[in-house]
Amino acid sequence: MTSRPGPVVVTGANSGFGLASVLRFAQRGWPTWGTVRSRAKANVLRDAARAAGVAELVHPLVLDVSDHDAVVARWKRLPDFYAVVNNAGFSALGAVEEVTAAEAKAQLDVNLVAPAVVSACALPAMRARGAGRIVMVSSIAGRAAVLPLNAWYHASKFGLEALSDVLRMEVAQFGVKVVVVEPGFFKTEIEHKAREAATEREAVEASPYRSAYHRMQQTAGLISSMAPPPDQVARTIVSAVESPRPRTRYLVGIDALAIAAANPLLPRAITDQVLRLVADLRG
Ligand SMILES: NC(=O)c1ccc[n+]([C@@H]2O[C@H](COP(=O)([O-])OP(=O)(O)OC[C@H]3O[C@@H](n4cnc5c(N)ncnc54)[C@H](OP(=O)(O)O)[C@@H]3O)[C@@H](O)[C@H]2O)c1
Repeated sequence: MTSRPGPVVVTGANSGFGLASVLRFAQRGWPTWGTVRSRAKANVLRDAARAAGVAELVHPLVLDVSDHDAVVARWKRLPDFYAVVNNAGFSALGAVEEVTAAEAKAQLDVNLVAPAVVSACALPAMRARGAGRIVMVSSIAGRAAVLPLNAWYHASKFGLEALSDVLRMEVAQFGVKVVVVEPGFFKTEIEHKAREAATEREAVEASPYRSAYHRMQQTAGLISSMAPPPDQVARTIVSAVESPRPRTRYLVGIDALAIAAANPLLPRAITDQVLRLVADLRG
């Protein structure tokens, strides 16, 4: 195994893309830290690392990336990372009319502000080394606003794409490369959590969006049953760190490639009609 230039940290490491990436980094010889939000979730990561035979290279780190002050304080006691993977994220499901300001801010705190805070913490060591990688786990939802009831998720990922492009220009001079990964639908916990949120919102009898929440649960269930496991995304994340000349963006999944190709070509009025039909938002 080639020697690695330094350790890696992945946020949101107890499930989905984060867990798969941590295991793959460790299997390829990278000392790997993974942030989780509780001791119980640290044990989930530890057990998975043990089962994969890489326990000695995996270091669970109990740290909630949405607590930005805690991230800054804790970073002083962490190693000098070669790469950070900003992966932690969730979808604050709900119609724009029904999402509170606090819920919207919580979405942006995790999906948009936290990647900036984590990257800022990691950059001094990367500048000192004259090399480093920052991987942003965005989504096809950061390119095309195609999911009704997911406006704040889209907004967070569109924001992350813009932030990443600007950051890439700012830090290239220090030998630091910023890479955006844009997956389509993959089977992880995110969809399960979004469906729970849809169930809660559908239960509010006064909501004018109840049928759309119901349809969203059905559609998400169907998509989830066909979605591939997260390994392909983990492979892309690891190669974004290992490749000597990574691309600025990686679309992952056939659906992501298809949406990225079709979205700029279709008139928005047609896209709206089709998506309103699919989401049962016809009135
Ligand atoms: N799965 C997909 O189809 C898909 C597609 C495109 C992009 N993505 C993106 O991929 C990334 C990883 O998601 P995933 O699909 O692997 O989902 P996942 O299995 O739910 O994993 C998400 C990770 O983020 C953490 N997280 C969630 N909410 C958080 C919060 N409020 N504060 C701090 N950490 C939080 C979770 O911790 P807890 O377990 O403690 O909640 C978990 O470790 C996200 O940025 C997501 O937007 C996913």
